[in-house]
Amino acid sequence: MSIVVVGSINMDLVVRVKRHPLPGETLLGSDYETHHGGKGANQAVAAARMLGRAAPTTKGASAVAQGTGVRMIGRVGQDEFGNQLRNALKREGINVNATIPIAAPTGVAFIAVNEEGQNTIIVSPGANHRLRPENLSSAEFEGARVVVLQLEIPLDTVRRAAELGRQAGARVVLNAAPAQKLPDKLIEYVDILVVNESEALGLTGVLPDSPEMALEVAKVLSEKTPTVVITLGEQGAVWVGPEGWGHQPVFKVEAVDSTGAGDAFIGALATAICEGKTLPQAVRLGCVAGALAATRVGAQASLPWRDDVNARLES
Ligand code: RIB
Ligand code: NA
Repeated sequence: MSIVVVGSINMDLVVRVKRHPLPGETLLGSDYETHHGGKGANQAVAAARMLGRAAPTTKGASAVAQGTGVRMIGRVGQDEFGNQLRNALKREGINVNATIPIAAPTGVAFIAVNEEGQNTIIVSPGANHRLRPENLSSAEFEGARVVVLQLEIPLDTVRRAAELGRQAGARVVLNAAPAQKLPDKLIEYVDILVVNESEALGLTGVLPDSPEMALEVAKVLSEKTPTVVITLGEQGAVWVGPEGWGHQPVFKVEAVDSTGAGDAFIGALATAICEGKTLPQAVRLGCVAGALAATRVGAQASLPWRDDVNARLES
């Protein structure tokens, strides 16, 4: 196993709106669509597509029949959404032996996307919140080079996963999303912290609205975590680590739906780290993957394959 992702698996219920509603306001939106999502599952799929190469050409053919080296640990409900989501991960060549259907509703995300492609998301965690620390076993982390975590499952489970990742000798990547306070007992096991602007604001009280400001904020955060990456949407990302610091700009895209862009970034970054690439290389790969994901609708459906990303890197 190369990459182990411990995290959430959601069905995304997506409605397009002209603009986001104000409190107390009702708006009419588009027909709703269902998309496979959940930050954990999205990041697992992003990594699997980066470790693989191209999209399957024959319709219905499985993308990667053999394993991709990605394992997803999570919980879905014993319901239609749960079946669909677990099977979709399997079709990506992801090992789902430790993604167990349980008697609870599958996680659902209610997403509104406005005309600028910006989203607001409400997550009902359901089964995701039933993944307890004692459900994790060290055997599931054996051979992991990178462990990828987010914050849509209980915090004590995230902490235990980080600890097991560290024990297995893996690099532990924490995408601290959605924003919440991070206990020191979790931070101590994190090697690479990745946050966006608003999560950085939540952690430091400072909104990094420019690359220069983001570098300052990243330096503050790096007092506790060896490596810190702050993603800045259209402004790319900044990084601070033992190898120095820098800003990676990103090419401009026509954003259609930013859902999944952050997860594409994380999956690509984790893959690059797993392949032994340097941090600046990993951030560059992440920026390209994230930008491509923003040009397509949906979360998992919008995640690019390695060939798409390489083509963009070479152009
Ligand atoms: O990061 C995007 C994801 O956040 C969506 O797929 C949704 O499920 C929420 O978890
Ligand atoms: Na998208």
